[in-house]
Amino acid sequence: MATVRTALAEGITLFDTADMYGAGENERLLGRALGHHRKDVVIASKLGIVAMPGLGVPLGLNARPARVKKCVENSLRRLGTDYLDLLYLHRVDPSVPIEETIGTMAEFVSKGLVREIGVCEVTPEQLSRAHATHPIAAMQSEWSIFTRGIEEGSRQEAKRIGAAVVAYSPLGRGMLTGASRATTNLALLDVRRFLPRWRRQNLARNLAAVELIRDVAHSLRCTSAQAALAWVLQKGSDVIPIPGTANPMHLRSNIAASDITLPREAREKLDSMQASGDRGEGFGRN
Ligand SMILES: NC(=O)c1ccc[n+]([C@@H]2O[C@H](COP(=O)([O-])OP(=O)(O)OC[C@H]3O[C@@H](n4cnc5c(N)ncnc54)[C@H](OP(=O)(O)O)[C@@H]3O)[C@@H](O)[C@H]2O)c1
Repeated sequence: MATVRTALAEGITLFDTADMYGAGENERLLGRALGHHRKDVVIASKLGIVAMPGLGVPLGLNARPARVKKCVENSLRRLGTDYLDLLYLHRVDPSVPIEETIGTMAEFVSKGLVREIGVCEVTPEQLSRAHATHPIAAMQSEWSIFTRGIEEGSRQEAKRIGAAVVAYSPLGRGMLTGASRATTNLALLDVRRFLPRWRRQNLARNLAAVELIRDVAHSLRCTSAQAALAWVLQKGSDVIPIPGTANPMHLRSNIAASDITLPREAREKLDSMQASGDRGEGFGRN
């Protein structure tokens, strides 16, 4: 709650959530925290991943029309709002043609309950099929110094169709900040415990790269997190990084990254530091 209030005070207007985060709890919390500021902000939520009740652990995918309808109703109720600014398909459900899912989501645009539609972690072909069904306003994918899958075609397709590119986990889920060095201090069901980049065979190499990023940041008199965010921001004016934090101080420091311009040499150094053993989360994609 304190972080959302700080974000509002600092002029942040885009809030990203999903029906599966905390199995609905995150939408409830965001709705409460935004309160009467609702009309001043953009709320983005997502559907398509089935979460374990009470825990929010992903169990599978379901983006069939009947479930899409239920999900939208539930998100609106939990957020305490009568419209979503942006509704994403969280992951493409391979058992349903993407046209069917997007077509059902588009019905809510016609009813005025959803303003724009987005898609997450799509291939260029899936993006173009989605866009042919209904205009896609935003494509959200993991994109950071450590995770570059989006550069293999989806980013170009987003540019072609004029969709904003929303870069999630731009801090490499915390690893790029230098603060997240092992899984031992993470909660039992923290998703990072299951990601290849934290596995022993990759971790040592990745942490060595994190040290090099810290050196680059040090030379620019900024933090590693700020350098990582500046790297994403410099990918284009159509690219919107959405760093996650529950810490108001981290939030303020991350906002300051928008004032940093990376010189070419620093950018090239960071460009060469892709993580080991990593294709991003890629649930349902990789
Ligand atoms: N579409 C999708 O499939 C998908 C998947 C994953 C995430 N997302 C979205 O993307 C958002 C961000 O992703 P994310 O949270 O996974 O990863 P992230 O933004 O790369 O990293 C978040 C981690 O970095 C830490 N952190 C943030 N700022 C810091 C700072 N200045 N110094 C030190 N540590 C810092 C946070 O801890 P503190 O709380 O301590 O700051 C947290 O552990 C999520 O909130 C979610 O909305 C979308």
